[in-house]
Amino acid sequence: MKQDMIVILDLGSHENTVVARAIRSLGVYSEIYPHDITATELKALPNVKGVIINGGPNNVIDGVAIDVLPEIYEAGFPVIAAGHDKALCEVKLPEFDNNEEAIKEAVKGFVFETCKAEANWNMKNFVADQIELVRRQVGDKKVLLALSGGVDSSVVAALLHKAIGNNLYCVHVNHGLMRKGESEDVVEVFKNQLKANLIYIDATERFLSKLENVADPEEKRKIIGGEFIRVFEEEARKLDGIEFLGQGTIYPDIVESGTKTAKCVKSHHNVGGLPKDLQFALVEPLRQLFKDEVRACGLELGLPHAMVFRQPFPGPGLGVRCLGAITRDRLEAVRESDAILREEFAKAGLDTKVWQYFTLVPDFKSVGVRDNARSFDWPVIIRAVNTIDAMTASIEHIDWAVLDKITARILKEVPCVNRVCYDLSPKPNATIEWE
Ligand code: XMP
Repeated sequence: MKQDMIVILDLGSHENTVVARAIRSLGVYSEIYPHDITATELKALPNVKGVIINGGPNNVIDGVAIDVLPEIYEAGFPVIAAGHDKALCEVKLPEFDNNEEAIKEAVKGFVFETCKAEANWNMKNFVADQIELVRRQVGDKKVLLALSGGVDSSVVAALLHKAIGNNLYCVHVNHGLMRKGESEDVVEVFKNQLKANLIYIDATERFLSKLENVADPEEKRKIIGGEFIRVFEEEARKLDGIEFLGQGTIYPDIVESGTKTAKCVKSHHNVGGLPKDLQFALVEPLRQLFKDEVRACGLELGLPHAMVFRQPFPGPGLGVRCLGAITRDRLEAVRESDAILREEFAKAGLDTKVWQYFTLVPDFKSVGVRDNARSFDWPVIIRAVNTIDAMTASIEHIDWAVLDKITARILKEVPCVNRVCYDLSPKPNATIEWE
């Protein structure tokens, strides 16, 4: 790795990632390390140019004050402290205010003048470095990758394909709960355009029959997750000589899994749960990237814009949006109404503005009228939310004209639907998904 690095030592500040992001946006690579890193460990990291000790309000944790080891100040790197009062520090920064621009201004002098770091962090260099590292790690061995079509797995697939070509085996499991056109896009981009080894499994029947009459949301999730692993495992066993498993782990997954001082937000699991006797070493070339950097990496690798800027989509897919026990006709109503919503959002320029938007169909009917006769059909519910981290969310205030148009199209084009509703609930008390 050629790029210079500024190390952030984590004293429990909520802003570690904002500081890391701010430094990276100055063109200098930055990573977060635990507060108790030793001087030897610090010196072993590649191209460290300086250290920021970032202690926020949490640096008294569970009644115990925590600090970096005194030897860090003697390790031979410029050291700066932010957000806490330490007489030892060379320079003291004002408490950060979680604003990336302000942080950039505050650290600029330290990064470039004190540390003499070079602005050599960019996607071109990152991709070149990772290709080199993957080749070194994998050699002429084979790598298996579960390619869901989500941003992270798609970018990993493109990167690994560039690095090792046909030694990459991508498996795309279509569980029948994908959005309209999604599996087709995966096949088109990876098999037809990039000519990657793509094993496409249409497991729709298998998933839907397992899910028949299952109404409990947790039970549905368990069945979908478990079945996914079984299908993937069956394919893995058919392939000979696979030694590595590619994973779309990204930096927030690692940071959110809980550093020593940060509260654990959520435990990270990707293809966790593979049977113990299927033993692979992991290849995780995106593990240093924030989400927007993953997207930039995807663009650098030539992936289509729509794939790189795809909105978040839950693993259980439309299964958690076809509420209660899934039926095929209601699942189609979710898929078709979702496609209409996405199309109209794109036309109105809302696709780049709204964080997540989708439709769902509950498992009850209401009375309506169609062609002068009584109807008894399902409602479609539209949900459109904005959020920074998916922990809280607010609803998007959509123009009535846009909603009118979407409603008219859904009522006209989607069979067995006679009402369209808009979900006004923020998170909390609601969650983003309904199940
Ligand atoms: P909730 O409904 O918990 O959703 O407010 C927060 C975000 O997470 C997504 N989500 C999932 N993503 N697997 C995923 O990969 C899942 O099982 C899952 N469940 C929810 C949801 O779409 C939203 O973006």
